[in-house]
Amino acid sequence: MLGRINHIAIAVPDIAVASRAYREMLGATVSAPQALPEHGVTVVFVELPNSKVELLEPLGEASPIASFLAKNPDGGMHHICYEVADILVARDQLAAGGARVLGNGEPKIGAHGKPVLFLHPKDFFGTLIELEQV
Ligand code: CO
Repeated sequence: MLGRINHIAIAVPDIAVASRAYREMLGATVSAPQALPEHGVTVVFVELPNSKVELLEPLGEASPIASFLAKNPDGGMHHICYEVADILVARDQLAAGGARVLGNGEPKIGAHGKPVLFLHPKDFFGTLIELEQV
C-alpha cells in the first residue's frame, strides 16, 4: 500500500524562527509560508534531495496541533506522510483492518493540492500517519 515518504512534519511554535534556522543554520531551501485554514495550520516545506520536511505552526483557535504544542512547547515530530496510489482504496482497506481514520473519513485536500487522510496514532505505535494520494 505504501509508497515513498512524502514528508515528515514537525510542529513548531514559531514558523518564522524555524524557517530561519533551517535556512541559515542548516543551509536548506525553505518554501514561503502557506496558510491552510481548513487544516488549522500554516506550513512551509524544507526541500531535501530525497524528501521534504514540513514545518507546522498553529493557525486559528481550533488548530489540531495546539494540544501537541502545549505538551511539547519547543516543538517536535508531529506526523509522517506516506504516499499511496489510491487513497479511497487505502482507506477502505485500513478501515476493514480496524484502523481508525481521523475526522469524517473523507479525504481533505492537503498542502500539495492532493487528497490526504490521517490515521489514529494509537493504531500505529504512537505515530500520527498521513496518507497522500499522488
Ligand atoms: Co503533512
